[in-house]
Amino acid sequence: MTRISILLTTTTLLATTTIAQSNREPPSTGLHSLFLSAGKLYFGTATETNNFADPTYQNILSNPLEFGQLTPENSQKWGLIQPQPGDFSFNASDQVASLANSYNHLLRCHTLTWHSQLPPFVSSTSWTPDTLRQLITTHITSVISHFGSACYAWDVVNEALNENGTFRNSVFFEVLGEEYIAHSFEVAREVAPPETKLYYNDFNLETAPEKQTAAVELVKSLQSKGIKIDGVGLQAHFTVGQTPSVESLIATLQRFADLGVDVAWTELDVAQEDVETASELAVEQQASDYVVAVRACLEVERCVGVTVWQFTDRYSWVPGTFPGKGDACLWTENYQKKPAYWAVKGFLEGWVARMNVTRAFVGGNETTVRTVASPRGPLTEVTSGSERLKGSLVKVAFISFGVWLVLNMM
Ligand code: XIL
Repeated sequence: MTRISILLTTTTLLATTTIAQSNREPPSTGLHSLFLSAGKLYFGTATETNNFADPTYQNILSNPLEFGQLTPENSQKWGLIQPQPGDFSFNASDQVASLANSYNHLLRCHTLTWHSQLPPFVSSTSWTPDTLRQLITTHITSVISHFGSACYAWDVVNEALNENGTFRNSVFFEVLGEEYIAHSFEVAREVAPPETKLYYNDFNLETAPEKQTAAVELVKSLQSKGIKIDGVGLQAHFTVGQTPSVESLIATLQRFADLGVDVAWTELDVAQEDVETASELAVEQQASDYVVAVRACLEVERCVGVTVWQFTDRYSWVPGTFPGKGDACLWTENYQKKPAYWAVKGFLEGWVARMNVTRAFVGGNETTVRTVASPRGPLTEVTSGSERLKGSLVKVAFISFGVWLVLNMM
């Protein structure tokens, strides 16, 4: 073998090894692990203590490949956590928090100032602006301090807007006007650990244009007052066949992201309009609606993750709240994975695999390179990829030169 061919063989071997290594399958066998591989923070679910005694449920909930974040479905709401003035009851929400901690899942905390699920002492007292402001201060201070750094994020204000973009009437709005929102965020910021993400959270931001615009204005108005808001949570309670298109969902998420905040689907479910008559076609449509939502999050850089509002129909809030509707989750009530689960998983696998092809080409190990086609054209986060490509070529050239030098000295 001549020196030149030894040199060429060595170089080829080096290049092949790099490609073979990065072609290895990532450990992507669940929704959360695939989300991590796609560069997101979590795939999570709402849960509650009354589900904890169910071993099949627990098995899935604790699977770190499927879930990486839990949100207490009810136990942190005002009516449950401070049912009487000054009487805080943290037992149930502590159980959710400690379960998340024991599974190493993140905890999204939900929620502080909300018109619904209020205890009677809040909704029926005649407050003055000062006494109500003080009440909000005490509530938020006590609850946030109790959980401290256990909460990755807090939904500070929930559902403050009507579909037509006006402010929702509530005891808070009646007494304080829109000021209650800024006040809640100010108190939360003061007491929360600096790393805690503070969110405004609402539903139908994806489907009601005036509400969406009002939420954008709300974020801007907080920012113009110097009040820091870290994220907007979009609940994403969808109905099969009425879920907006992927283009529309991307545009919605991006509109908020452009304000400099994180975004997330915080309560995703896709309900059958009528469970009795849902056809095979509707089951397929549900799968494609779920994929559209998940894909929109992947396409928007500031979308940190997706939370489903329970993962099994066994514990979904939908049938109890919207009679006739249901079957909204990824698992059936008997814990069978639905076509929607497989569609989301398959989509994520495809997404991550395409990212890997790029990685193989550039010879890097990180997951920031995305070349998947998107409705907005190919994503262009290839800077780090080309940096790594340059790095790899320099490495190969350097090693080849070394080999050549050694051979020449022999
Ligand atoms: C729902 C819970 O899922 C139900 O168990 C409860 O009876 C009512 O509240 N928007 C929210 C959530 O922000 O807190 C709501 O959760 C669903 C709508």
